[in-house]
This record gives sequence, C-alpha cells and structure tokens, in this order.
Amino acid sequence: MSENIISTVDDFKAYLRDNLSEKRYLHSLGVAETTEKVLLHYNCNNYVKTWNGFSAGEFCGLCHDIAREKGDKGLLEYCDSRGLEISQVERLSPVLVHGLVSAHMARSLCGDYPASWYRAVCEHTTGAAGMDQLSLALFIADFIEPGRRFLTDEDRKRYLSEDSIARCAYAILCDMMEHWKRKGYHDASENSVALKEDLENRIRSGE
Ligand SMILES: [Fe+2]
Ligand SMILES: [Fe+2]
Repeated sequence: MSENIISTVDDFKAYLRDNLSEKRYLHSLGVAETTEKVLLHYNCNNYVKTWNGFSAGEFCGLCHDIAREKGDKGLLEYCDSRGLEISQVERLSPVLVHGLVSAHMARSLCGDYPASWYRAVCEHTTGAAGMDQLSLALFIADFIEPGRRFLTDEDRKRYLSEDSIARCAYAILCDMMEHWKRKGYHDASENSVALKEDLENRIRSGE
C-alpha cells in the first residue's frame, strides 16, 4: 500500500535525514547532485527527465540507498513479505538486493514514479546489461561522488574525460572489478560481468 509521504525534494531530504546515518545521508545528497552533473556532462537526453516536480538524477540519487540501513535479515524479510523475486545468489548475499528494495520503498513513499527510474535504482548495485543513460549516470555517480574518499579529484577528472557515458562507466567498472579481485572481497557478480560485456559491445559499435 502506498504511503505517499514524500512529494517534494525537501520532504525527501528530511526523510533521509531522519532515517539514514549521517554518512549515508550525505552520500545520497552527493549522488543526487553528481548524477545530475554526469547527465549534463555527457549531454544525455534519452531518458524521462521529470516526474511530479522531481528531476530524474536527483530523485534516483536521493533514493538509491534508502534500504541500505536494513541488515541482511531486514532486506530478505522485505522481499519475502512483498513477494519480490530474488535469486539464490542474492539470498546468499542480501546486500545485493538493496537497490531493488530501495526502488520499491521509494514507490511506497513517493507514488508510482517512472519505470525507467525504478530500474536505474535497482541496477545501481551491480550494474546490468542494457543500462540506459540514467542508469549509467547513477552508477557512475555512486562511485565518484565527492564524499568517496578513496578517489582523488584527479581520478574523477580522468573518469569524466572519457568520451562517452558508456566509456566512463566501463572505466569505473573495470577499476571496481580489479579492486574486488585485489581485496579478495568477492567475485564480480553475474550482472557486473554482463554489464562489462554489454559496454564492450556498445563501445565497439561507437557509443
Ligand atoms: Fe547502493
Ligand atoms: Fe550508494
């Protein structure tokens, strides 16, 4: 059932302030602002830009991690109680569904926002094949927003000096996968591998 308690950006920020840690609240603001910047930087026009007074990049950035405060158990309970389908891999690593749960929670909080925005929020965690411009911008912003201490401004400039949004996302994805491998965190998820192949094809065909 929809709660629809958020109808403006200010409402959204107040909700985040009340429900997220300070660090995550600031990260969400950073991702919102950076997603808008990335969309502008790459002259993206092929996406639904506004809904109900919200702009796409800002909305997706603000809501992309709202489920992140739920622990593994909370994420699984949320999916199971609402009939959201998840894979066996996700069941074993519930953090992977925080995009899906965030997207779903945002619908209860804000109403029936565009499906492409919902998809972008779902996909931000691991990436996926066939991501559109908005999805890629959110994926990039989540990695390069100013609060990310592991990056220098030089790193950010280097990523954004790529010729296209597909190339920029590809450079980030390769570095992420390399980092996971070095740290022995986990193997790249199936979705990340699918995104990598998809971006390679798109770049080869001139995107
Ligand atoms: Fe996230
Ligand atoms: Fe994030």
